[in-house]
Amino acid sequence: MTDTISLATEIAGIAFPNLMTNAAGVSCETTQELNAVLASEAGGVTTKSATPVARPGNPTPRQELLPLGSINSMGLPNRGLGYYLAYATQRQALAGQDLPAEVAAETAQHKPVILSVSGLSIEDNLAMLKDIQQSPFTGLTELNLSCPNVVGKAQLGYDFEAVVATLTEVFSHFTKPLGLKLPPYFDFFQFDGIAEAVGRFPIAYVNMINSIGNGLAIDAETETVLIKPKGGFGGIGGELVKPTALANVRAMRLRLHPDIKIIGTGGIRTGQDVFEHVLCGADAVQVGTELWREGPGVFKRLSEELRAIMKEKGYGSLDDFRGKLKTMGA
Ligand code: SIN
Repeated sequence: MTDTISLATEIAGIAFPNLMTNAAGVSCETTQELNAVLASEAGGVTTKSATPVARPGNPTPRQELLPLGSINSMGLPNRGLGYYLAYATQRQALAGQDLPAEVAAETAQHKPVILSVSGLSIEDNLAMLKDIQQSPFTGLTELNLSCPNVVGKAQLGYDFEAVVATLTEVFSHFTKPLGLKLPPYFDFFQFDGIAEAVGRFPIAYVNMINSIGNGLAIDAETETVLIKPKGGFGGIGGELVKPTALANVRAMRLRLHPDIKIIGTGGIRTGQDVFEHVLCGADAVQVGTELWREGPGVFKRLSEELRAIMKEKGYGSLDDFRGKLKTMGA
């Protein structure tokens, strides 16, 4: 019976009944969108990356589906940290209540919120983390060091010295569980460099990967770019990025201390894609482009497909195959 197959996972002692959540940015800007993810088979929800105050983001059109993925240059449209921190704190209070089982199930009572933050400067990030530190929220915070879409702002995750300087400041006062959303890396010197940089700090997890920054998608008929911001350059997600995402998950799993968990993000369209992320070492996964295409019902489909694969292979839990990718010698 596939019903007895567990898709549960855990990060920093926080239990997710299903390893899948949305990727920050998709179906997570408003409480309605966040609640829709929680009402689905997803194991939790990730908020839109917050800035200290609300932002409208980049001019539209700023996102398009592509035949094999997506391009976006949203520019961090969000309601501001206060909005998402209030939501995460309310959900945490709900989780602590003694509710009848049916009400608990209906309210997705025990599904955690990952609070994503992405300041436009190091000062922004430090200020937001200070607010979170002082709040009652004790869940997972995800520091996004990889948004490629804010005009004039480099992706901090590519500057390893700046990553170290930022995390040194962060961990001088932040004591709650913190994960990092990182950009894709493409060379072994980058895998080594980022693992060495973040591995010095007590991070709960790394989330690999954000979109592949600054791709270009065009309409040959009209000879025009598909999105307006940045002359058409935007982050590429979906099927197109799966091999890069798998490589980053695998590279980090081979380099980081086993206590640092990994969230695999990128190119998840089927249950087999989830299976492959876990095989490479992912403890949890996030779905972006396919959630945008299909809506929150995608989590049920992916869960059924993953359970069918696990049943076929005789696996009862993620532990049975996580990180167990086979290689072919030197
Ligand atoms: C955006 O809002 O531009 C996307 C955020 C991200 O890629 O981190």
